[in-house]
Amino acid sequence: MIITIDGPAGSGKSTAARGLARALGIAYLDTGATYRVVTLAALERGLDLADADALAQLARGLDVQFVPAPEGLRVLLEGRDVSDAIRRRDVTENSRYVASPANVRAVLVDLQRRLGAELGSFVTEGRDQGSVVFPQADLKVYLDADPAQRALRRAAEMTARGEAADVQGVLADILKRDASDAGRQTGPLCRPADAVVVDTTGKSIDETLAALRAAVEARA
Ligand code: C5P
Repeated sequence: MIITIDGPAGSGKSTAARGLARALGIAYLDTGATYRVVTLAALERGLDLADADALAQLARGLDVQFVPAPEGLRVLLEGRDVSDAIRRRDVTENSRYVASPANVRAVLVDLQRRLGAELGSFVTEGRDQGSVVFPQADLKVYLDADPAQRALRRAAEMTARGEAADVQGVLADILKRDASDAGRQTGPLCRPADAVVVDTTGKSIDETLAALRAAVEARA
């Protein structure tokens, strides 16, 4: 079974995808982590982020592993655990350089399909999972929420990680990322026509999960 969950930053995709995967006893795939780990490696190596060919070459040769863990996935870059480092604000802000060029996306879409083939049955989350990467999915979900609520959630996550977070600043970052995600030529954030739309504004995690489980049952 393949279930795709797409949506903008802070819509609750990660929590929902992890929870749904656990409830169904299938794997979880976080495709944002593939963009983030390439961004981190590029920053660490001091690559010119405007050089898409250099980024594609980096992505192609990168030794990355995704290891299932109780809290989701651990990400290993050349054997080093970078699961926390890829969530840093500088990585988040610069991820659009990796997410925008078609040649870099092609490498990562390939990687995501290989990971999916290894997993067999999984819930995957991202921006283009239902539209581009796994169009054959059994169920496609599009999660959305008010920008203000998305900013509050992201700020709470950052505070929990011990990072400084001002909600207005986080909201501005989210709106910038929305525009970049929705506006790019290749693999833009979009709502597949055959997706079930769930608006998580004002919904608890349990309410969101209940809506997703109902969508799975309706497809069964
Ligand atoms: O979901 P997350 O915030 O971890 O994603 C990090 C960045 O990777 C996003 O800002 C987005 O630009 C990009 N991304 C993407 N396609 C995906 C998943 C993430 O372009 N399938």
